[in-house]
Amino acid sequence: MKTDRAVLFLTDIFGVQFVNNRLLADNFARAGYFVAAPDLFKADPVGINQLSDPTFSFADWNSKHPQVVIDGIIDSIISALQSQFGSKKIAAAGYCFGGKFVTRHLAPGNGLDVGFTAHPSNVLDAEYQAVANPLSIAFGDLDTANPPAARASAESILRASNIAFQTSLYSNAEHGFAVRTNLSDPQKKFAQESAYYQAVRFFDTWM
Ligand SMILES: *[C@@H]1O[C@H](CO)[C@@H](O)[C@H](O)[C@H]1NC(C)=O
Repeated sequence: MKTDRAVLFLTDIFGVQFVNNRLLADNFARAGYFVAAPDLFKADPVGINQLSDPTFSFADWNSKHPQVVIDGIIDSIISALQSQFGSKKIAAAGYCFGGKFVTRHLAPGNGLDVGFTAHPSNVLDAEYQAVANPLSIAFGDLDTANPPAARASAESILRASNIAFQTSLYSNAEHGFAVRTNLSDPQKKFAQESAYYQAVRFFDTWM
C-alpha cells in the first residue's frame, strides 16, 4: 500500500461509526490515497437519529468534545502519518464539525498541505485568515450554517490570502448534503457526488 499521499478524513458529529462516513473515506482510498479516519469522539458520536430526540442535549455532547482535545487527536494522527507511515503530503477532507479543523490545521506549521471541506460548521474569520495552503469548499444553498454573508466573507478572506482556493455552491443542498442527503432528488444527488469529485480533483492537483 502506498502511503506517501495521505487523506485525513475528519467526520461530522456522527463520527466514523456512521456508515456513510466510512463509505466516503473508502472512496478517497479508491482514488489512490492512504486514508486515516480517526474516531474524533472516542466512541461517543451523536447517533444518527439523536438530534430529533428532545431528551438529547447537543450543547452537553459538544462540551464533552472540546476543541483542544480534537486538535490533539488530529496532531497525533498527522505525526503518525509522517513518522510511522512516511506520508510526504497530507490532505484533509472535513465535513460539518470536521470542516473547522481542516481550516485550523491548514495554518502554517499545523501539518496539512491541502484541504477540502463541505458545509463546515463554526469556522471563525481568524481560522480562514490563517489558512496558508490550498483550500476547496463545497457549500449548499440551503445550509443555514453557511448563509450568503458567511460564504462571501470566507471568499473575501481567501481571495486576500493569495493562496489557491476554490468554492462551489450547490443548489437545493442542505447542511450535511455531502455525507447524507436524499439521493432520489437529482439536485441533491448531483451535489453529493460533485462535492466528492471536487475534493479528489483538488487533492490530485495540489498534492
Ligand atoms: C426525496 O426526493 C424525492 C424526489 O424529489 C421525493 O419524492 C421524496 O419525497 C424525497 N424523500 C424525502 C424523505 O424527503
